[in-house]
Amino acid sequence: MIVIVSGTDRTAARTTGVARMVEQAVAARGETTVFLNLQTLPAGIFQAAHYGRPPAEFAPFQKAILEASGIITVVPEYNGSFPGALKYFLDLLKFPESLRGMPSAFVGVSSGRFGAVRAVEQLEMIFQYREAHIFARRCFFPAVEKLVVDGAIQDEFIAGFFESMIQDFCSFVRKVRLP
Ligand SMILES: Cc1cc2nc3c(=O)[nH]c(=O)nc-3n(C[C@H](O)[C@H](O)[C@H](O)COP(=O)(O)O)c2cc1C
Repeated sequence: MIVIVSGTDRTAARTTGVARMVEQAVAARGETTVFLNLQTLPAGIFQAAHYGRPPAEFAPFQKAILEASGIITVVPEYNGSFPGALKYFLDLLKFPESLRGMPSAFVGVSSGRFGAVRAVEQLEMIFQYREAHIFARRCFFPAVEKLVVDGAIQDEFIAGFFESMIQDFCSFVRKVRLP
């Protein structure tokens, strides 16, 4: 089972649409998927007392991560980095078992020209720290407002790159970790 994390809690985030495209592309390769949308984190999740003791409503998020054979995180660029909600989500996950040995891939989304490359590279450092297996190929969606229209990628090169990245990540997951 591959988990797709939509890495922001912002209302009407374009990241959610890209994450749904990722989910469809993974499912098209015959993999089961779980979609974790940070917009649906439990109300009141951001509380000082939750470090190390997340509320019961967080359990489905934690369970999906522990059961995953791979994770694809779709991340927008906010202020040259990734959203604080995503860092908080990672900080709530059990240490060290949640990400250790986890095949992990990243997709970046931005309205700017760089497609969240900074956000992806900063996240890779964190996943590396957590001993995940980082999939080397990343896909970037710059100028996402124009690049993705009605769930379709308008640029032929990026569309082909995206499909091959998802295909190869699914193979990577099968090689690196048993389902
Ligand atoms: C708080 C915030 C900071 C942002 N900072 C950047 C940025 O540094 N670079 C950039 O290209 N876009 C930036 N954006 C625009 C997002 O990339 C844009 O909203 C895009 O659609 C992806 O984010 P979304 O999933 O929230 O829609 C920012 C958006 C927000 C809400």
